[in-house]
Amino acid sequence: MAVPYQVNQAGELTIGGVTATSLAQKYQTPLYVYDVNSIRNQMRAFKTVFINRHIDYAVSYASKAFATVAMYEVAAQEDIHLDVVSGGEIQTALAANFPMANVSFNGNNKSAEELGMAIDNGLGTIILDNFYEINLLHDLLAERNQKQNVLLRITPGVEAHTHDYISTGQTDSKFGFDVNSGQAQQALAQTLADPYLNVLGVSAHIGSQIFDVTGFQMAATKLVDLVHEWGFEPQVINTGGGFGIRYTKEDQPLPATEFVEAIIDTITEKTTAYGMTMPTIWIEPGRAIVGPAGYNLYTIGSRKDVPGIRSYLSVDGGMGDNIRPALYEAKYEAVLANNPSAPSEQVVRVAGKYCESGDVLVWEQALPQTKPGDVLAVLATGAYGYSMASNYNRNPRPAVVFVEDGKDQLVVERETYTDMLRLDKHYQ
Ligand code: LLP
Repeated sequence: MAVPYQVNQAGELTIGGVTATSLAQKYQTPLYVYDVNSIRNQMRAFKTVFINRHIDYAVSYASKAFATVAMYEVAAQEDIHLDVVSGGEIQTALAANFPMANVSFNGNNKSAEELGMAIDNGLGTIILDNFYEINLLHDLLAERNQKQNVLLRITPGVEAHTHDYISTGQTDSKFGFDVNSGQAQQALAQTLADPYLNVLGVSAHIGSQIFDVTGFQMAATKLVDLVHEWGFEPQVINTGGGFGIRYTKEDQPLPATEFVEAIIDTITEKTTAYGMTMPTIWIEPGRAIVGPAGYNLYTIGSRKDVPGIRSYLSVDGGMGDNIRPALYEAKYEAVLANNPSAPSEQVVRVAGKYCESGDVLVWEQALPQTKPGDVLAVLATGAYGYSMASNYNRNPRPAVVFVEDGKDQLVVERETYTDMLRLDKHYQ
């Protein structure tokens, strides 16, 4: 099978046509690097499925996966919609001059301030999650005498096969209106009767890092069955995100587009059978758009060999820039940047520099011999890495670099110690 990275003629790892070692040298490590072409290609691949099948659609990038001004600018260039989940993401969209009509707002506890920010800035669609929010939004809209497009987030009772922490579609969930208890139907009645709300349709998100189309088929079926049962013809059905990607060779995801084909098939068949108008289909991929495009570059430092047990190879980053292994036991692959295809001569655990035993970046990695100063690249780190980064142990967050067609550009500066101390006040 082809390796999931590119090399130049000298056999060195390249990202967007630039060697990883030169990027590490120019911008220092740890460093987040994105291959922008990969991001664009994935966005286009999702859109193409809908276009080829003449289906009205919105591909809404779930920007929690990686939310920066430059990323939102790429999404806008590709005519991709944006899903946000906080005031901070709304502000990022505004800073990127993103067309706010193409933004949706998800979340189970949006504040009055955040909802106000959304409606005052013309944010296209608010995805309502609970009764508290319906009433809050109603009051804010009434004060302004303004109308707002909304979707209702439904918990369809479909549990996708994934790590428990990242399942959000089962009945025991903090997200969305529950179906079995009648809350979802009640929410529809209330919102349809509300003069300030224009209910476009329904929304669901069944989980993350899903490898199988079945969950999406079940969720889509459930959504169409429900709206039919309620006598409601939605203009929009949003089946969420969650399309799985390859982190290691154990992961064999379907091409993301196959998930979309399955969703389209299900919604077409079901709505045709019920004699309903075909709705616009929305999807909200996050990980599938940015995950494979991202590389975390580190410099190798210390090493500890525990005889008969294992070797720890430590790098200059860790759980502050990628918490996923520590938090979800997530697995990654790493390669030596100057020679990713060299035969392996050792198996190591790649550890970070943080004061915690669980601070691991790669649980088990075969590598050629390495020495301090070598650059290590962890692959497929583009989703939920930078966006979940922290200043744990008072380490500054790394810079982010975009590379495209042989050109690299700094899109987020490396945090400085001064940046980190900026909010601290003396206690007198
Ligand atoms: N739509 C909604 C409503 C969501 O809650 C999510 C993710 C997505 C779309 C995008 O899912 P994706 O396509 O990226 O799988 N921090 C975890 C992932 C949490 C996902 C939460 N919701 C991780 O690092 O794996």
